[in-house]
This record gives sequence, C-alpha cells and structure tokens, in this order.
Amino acid sequence: MTKLTDTYTLSNDLQIPKIGFGTWQIPANLAQKAVLNALDLGYRHIDTALVYQNEQEVGAGIQESNIKREEIFITSKLPAETKSYDQTLQDFETTMANLQLDYLDLYLIHAPWPWAQKGANYDQQNREVWQAMEEIYASRRVKAIGVSNFNVYDLQNILDVAQIKPMVNQIRYFIGNTENEITEFSQAYGMLVEAYSPLATDELLNNQQLQQLAKKYGVSLAQLAIQFCVQNGVLPLPKAIQRAHAANNAQLDFVIETTDMEQLNNFQKTI
Ligand SMILES: NC(=O)c1ccc[n+]([C@@H]2O[C@H](COP(=O)([O-])OP(=O)(O)OC[C@H]3O[C@@H](n4cnc5c(N)ncnc54)[C@H](OP(=O)(O)O)[C@@H]3O)[C@@H](O)[C@H]2O)c1
Repeated sequence: MTKLTDTYTLSNDLQIPKIGFGTWQIPANLAQKAVLNALDLGYRHIDTALVYQNEQEVGAGIQESNIKREEIFITSKLPAETKSYDQTLQDFETTMANLQLDYLDLYLIHAPWPWAQKGANYDQQNREVWQAMEEIYASRRVKAIGVSNFNVYDLQNILDVAQIKPMVNQIRYFIGNTENEITEFSQAYGMLVEAYSPLATDELLNNQQLQQLAKKYGVSLAQLAIQFCVQNGVLPLPKAIQRAHAANNAQLDFVIETTDMEQLNNFQKTI
C-alpha cells in the first residue's frame, strides 16, 4: 500500500516522496505534457538531468501545473562528464536556468566516470566535484545532495573527504538486480537508495514468472515491480510517456506478502 504522497526522510530530515517520475528518454517535445500528466495524476517528485536535454520542458510542465513549488520535489543531475569544481558550479547554473527554479530539492553527480569511460578512475576529480556540491548545498539553493551510479569504492572515496555525506545514491535497481552490496553500504551510511529503471527500461515487463505473480495480486507487472522497490525501502523512479502507464504506476494499493518478497529478492537475474 503506497501513496504518491508518502515520503521517506533523508539524513538531513528532508521529506522526499516515495515514488518519483522519471524523465530519461522523454523527447523534449513530449516532456512538458508528460510532466503535466504526472503532476495531474498526483506525482509530486520529478527526476531529470541536464543530459536528458529536456530540463526546459520539464520546468515548463512544472510551471504550467500551477502547483506550489514547495509541494513538488525536483531532482536534477550534474553531467557525468563534468569532473571539475568550476564546471560543476557552471552546470548547476545551467540546470537552474533551464528549469526556471530558485532552488532544487536534490542534485546528484550523475556518475563517477564520463559515460564513454565507464569504470575509469576519477577519484581525485570526484572529490573536487563533491566540494563544489557541498558549496552549492551550503548556498541553500539545493536542499539535498547525492550521487548516482556510485559503487562501494566510489562512495568510500567521497566519504573519506566529505564534510557533508551524500544523502542519496541513485542506482539501476529492479527485481533480479538489487545490487545488495551497494544498497547495504549506502543505507549503512545514511543514504536513501533510489531505484532507476525500476522496470529495467521495460525489459522486465515480458517476464512470465513475474507476470504470474502480478496476476495473483490483480496488478500489472509494472505495479508489482514498483511496489517491490518500496517494500525494500528503496525509492522507485518509473518513467512513462503514456498517461495510462503513469496512472497505472501510481496505483499501489496492495502489499506484497513476505514470502513473495523473499522470492523476488532471490529472483535470478534475467537481463
Ligand atoms: N541516474 C541514472 O544514470 C539513470 C539512468 C537511467 C534512468 N534514470 C532515471 O530512472 C527513470 C526510469 O528509468 P527508465 O527510463 O530506464 O525506465 P523504466 O521506468 O524502468 O521503464 C520505462 C518503460 O516502461 C514503460 N512503462 C512504464 N509504465 C508502464 C506500465 N504500467 N505498463 C507497461 N509499460 C510501462 C514505459 O513506456 P512509455 O514511456 O511508453 O509510457 C517505458 O518504455 C528515468 O526516466 C530516469 O529519470 C537514471
């Protein structure tokens, strides 16, 4: 049983709605409408990023909704390619201008390495970037800061020097891909784990075994996958261009039984 207005509490006491609306791969010309739909359906948490190239339209959707700013939780991300102090401050300004906001709720380092160099060592640069993130946080223009795609090693690198610990780690997380080591470490250090691609960017949705289980609860596989995240204490960020999908994902008035959660937590990775 999860409502869109239910919240988790971050380590700095900030409330964050338990379900976020993802906007990756929503083309700019569809993003304003998609965000407006989501807000109309009751979502109060929107996840975007400078690299998604739709921040302006996401911002426009938020404006058009006429919902009070303080009632919406908005996250954006520093490009993974940005690995210097100065560029971090600059990119943050670009994001704020795109979204047309006075403050952001959550700002994340998108990844520990530029996408083209996945796994490369950027330890020193990530520490420098984290200093800039702390400065932005101190300016009060963002209410919380965190990271994304960081493994235990990457997190430790930041924790070794952080004055302010990351409050969130956003990782790829879905049934069969629960990243237990990263999740447990993040949570042990007070970070909320956010599940990106909770439907495995839709690849999970054809799994027959999971479809059977969803049927037992009278829900869609998408609903099952989203509720699974919440029952594990993780914050799902489902994305949907289609309003019917966004509406379906918001209906979470069921509870997955403990034995089924155990089965799902031991589910063999298929993707
Ligand atoms: N930090 C990172 O590096 C990172 C990386 C990837 C994603 N993310 C975040 O996580 C969000 C979600 O991840 P994702 O975009 O990979 O996708 P996802 O939420 O796992 O899956 C989205 C796909 O599932 C479909 N869908 C949604 N609800 C459905 C339903 N009820 N029934 C059937 N199909 C449904 C969508 O279709 P339609 O769109 O056609 O409705 C879309 O094709 C992103 O948008 C982004 O905000 C972050």
